[in-house]
Amino acid sequence: MVNSKVLIVVIVLVYIMIASMANGLSMTYYVLTCPLAEIIVRNTVNKALQADSTLAAGLVRMHFHDCFVQGCDASVLIDSTKDNTAEKDSPANLSLRGYEIIDDAKDELERRCPGVVSCADILAMAARDAVLFAGGPFYGIQAGRKDGRRSMILDTINLPAPTLNSSELISAFGKRGFTAQEMVALSGAHTLGVARCSSFKSRLSKFNSTHDVDPSLDTQFAKTLISTCGLGDNAEQSFDSTKNIFDNNYFNGLQRKAGVLFSDQTLFDGPGTRGIVNAYAMNMAFFFLDFQRAMVKMGTMDVKLASNGEVRNNCRKIN
Ligand code: HEM
Repeated sequence: MVNSKVLIVVIVLVYIMIASMANGLSMTYYVLTCPLAEIIVRNTVNKALQADSTLAAGLVRMHFHDCFVQGCDASVLIDSTKDNTAEKDSPANLSLRGYEIIDDAKDELERRCPGVVSCADILAMAARDAVLFAGGPFYGIQAGRKDGRRSMILDTINLPAPTLNSSELISAFGKRGFTAQEMVALSGAHTLGVARCSSFKSRLSKFNSTHDVDPSLDTQFAKTLISTCGLGDNAEQSFDSTKNIFDNNYFNGLQRKAGVLFSDQTLFDGPGTRGIVNAYAMNMAFFFLDFQRAMVKMGTMDVKLASNGEVRNNCRKIN
């Protein structure tokens, strides 16, 4: 009698595990092989962010730059070798931050469950935990991504440039399967972190044939950006007034023409995206809901499964 009850429980558990699999990923992927995986990643991330809360932005951006190039396969973590310049050495990736956090989590996971947890899953979990640490929404993510074996600088051409306008952004994200609303929600990640002067200085002088300074910029805010750039190309400007807090201030800033990048401000200026910006600025819960859904979706982009990937021993090198 007891045995048949146990059997039923096991059958139900296996059924739930199989039913929760989509794209070969699963919510319970490590439940038998490394049950502490999520906790180990969360502890590592929390410890690192308690020491330096600005790294939350780094982790979220790193996950985006991973997923948009070759899918979410940790290709962004691979170091260059003498024969290959890897993604991380592309100009678009030079300011990525937080690699050591992924290394620390991987080291601990290799001690506890060697060869089991992929770097791509660690990065997806770390970005999720960073959002929560900064006060953003929690979302559950599926696991089972395998790590890729290719990381080439030329592939980073797939990352969107900060000079794109609203319709170009809609089209760039549309090609990757995202709606305009999802693109605006994901851009809301700019509630965290900073941009360097080199990413926005083209807005501040010789903008186009009729304007020296980008007319979509508030005059006072343009002065702030100009004074930041007075400190050099690497001088940092916060995207919004609360750079370590995940909130909807970024969207309020766009309404005041205080978007840092051209690609930020255009979301308010473009007819296809302005309504979404206004909705997120007015209702933070709405932004959080859309953001978490869009992040879950981004985290499944072109994922590699057992046949075309591996679990790297060291996140910086293919096996
Ligand atoms: C919509 C198209 C996007 C463009 C054109 C864009 C461009 C940029 C640029 C140029 C920077 C500043 C880099 C620097 O100057 O060092 C930046 C920073 C950042 N981006 Fe984006 N981004 C986009 C979308 C996203 C998405 C979808 C996410 C995440 C889901 C994201 C997360 C971040 C974060 C968190 C930072 C701050 C990083 C830090 O402080 O270290 N971005 N982005």
